[in-house]
Amino acid sequence: MRDYEPYFTEDGSIGLYSYAQKDVFHSKFGALTEAWEKFVLPANLDIYDFENLKVLDVCYGIGYNTKALMSFLINNIKFKKKNIFQKLFYIVAIGVNKIFRSNKQLLSYIESISSNKKYSFQIDCLDINEELVQLSPLFRTVKTPGEIYDSAVPQILTCFESYYTIRNLFVDLLTKFMPKNKKEINELLDLKFKNMHIEKEYKINSYVNYILLNNLSEYFGKEYPSKELKKMMREKKNRRFFDNSLIKYAKFNQKWGYNKSSGCNLSTFLHNIYYATLSRRYKKMNFKTAQSLFNINFYVDDARKTILTLNNEYDLIFLDAFTYTKAPQLWTVEFIAELYKRISPQGLLMTYSTSALVRNTLLENKFYVGNIYHKKTNKIIGTIASKDKTKIEHPLTPYEIGLCNTKAGIPYHDPTLSFDKKDIIEFREYEFRHSDLMSSSKYMKLRSMKKDENEEI
Ligand SMILES: C[S@@+](CC[C@H](N)C(=O)[O-])C[C@H]1O[C@@H](n2cnc3c(N)ncnc32)[C@H](O)[C@@H]1O
Repeated sequence: MRDYEPYFTEDGSIGLYSYAQKDVFHSKFGALTEAWEKFVLPANLDIYDFENLKVLDVCYGIGYNTKALMSFLINNIKFKKKNIFQKLFYIVAIGVNKIFRSNKQLLSYIESISSNKKYSFQIDCLDINEELVQLSPLFRTVKTPGEIYDSAVPQILTCFESYYTIRNLFVDLLTKFMPKNKKEINELLDLKFKNMHIEKEYKINSYVNYILLNNLSEYFGKEYPSKELKKMMREKKNRRFFDNSLIKYAKFNQKWGYNKSSGCNLSTFLHNIYYATLSRRYKKMNFKTAQSLFNINFYVDDARKTILTLNNEYDLIFLDAFTYTKAPQLWTVEFIAELYKRISPQGLLMTYSTSALVRNTLLENKFYVGNIYHKKTNKIIGTIASKDKTKIEHPLTPYEIGLCNTKAGIPYHDPTLSFDKKDIIEFREYEFRHSDLMSSSKYMKLRSMKKDENEEI
């Protein structure tokens, strides 16, 4: 039996269901969307402000967070690297107002034209699961919101008809290849994300991904690509929906059998990023640039062990572990303390969790803690933390801090960074039972009663 079952998330990127964990790894609304909204955008990166960046991706999985960040950096540098005439043309063509939201940005942009920065980015990726890290290059992700807006959206509108023909064809085919346990996956997704709403801003329906092609080649066997599909692929108006490298890959697969890339192969990984982000015309040059820009290291082991071997100071830390009830090991006071030691004075830690327990664990480690808001819906979608108070745009409110001080905020402990999950949970349950703290439900009730009286509790 397979270990993982892929499913399509609503933005077109692939999510994974794990048979061992009996759980889905990625949000129903979009694996890629989540990476952008909870990890890349909240970092508020302005490429003109720095040359180097050190990033720690805790729980790399199949790498959406790292890949989305790489995409962001590559695309911003690509823009910066245009020569002065191209830049002026770009500014005039798209309109100064659309590109620059403030004078500060305009000034720093003009300054940057004369500066000659040498960018270099280090990303350290931690995951316990070797198989996922090896599969990672096969999952394409990357499109920036800017790209989607500037290219995909108008294209989709102008070629409405062909777009929907192709989509419908794939919907048809997909129903034939749906995961075996589709029902269970759907139920899990509905349960886990039932109260969430995320704008589907980062749609990437316009490409055919490896999994689909694998399935297609399996389905059609020797007949793949079928006449019908071949004809469609050849039509000029449809070409943008197909990526030649993917089609070749599928043909190769059909001939030689499925063989995932061996080891954590940086070239394959970058190649994958490259195809999704860089222009074909500057193929070689840009691929080399990407290779020289990034230094990516994979550490496949328990993150609690790996962290002790790392001596870097990170500007960004992505903490994307399973929820604390499933994987308390990476949410303990002691593990977060190790992250605190390794974050730069102005560095930012991002996580999707908004729980009182996680927030209190960050607070206990002397982090300043705040909310990540969804840019459009203004809903709270994650937590951001830093050693520097000024880096927190939306600090926790007194109400939220109060919630952290209830029983719900009692943190996990793992003094040797090697305790079993069961022991970590039991230890907390013991503390919970013997604690004098108020329960979170009582706190919330009291707060709502005292709201009108404007009293603190
Ligand atoms: C929610 S998934 C992360 C998804 C990932 N960020 C992505 O873009 O695909 C959680 C990940 O945590 C990893 N993990 C679980 N326990 C771990 C541990 N003790 N140390 C390191 N990684 C761990 C799992 O293998 C899984 O890939």
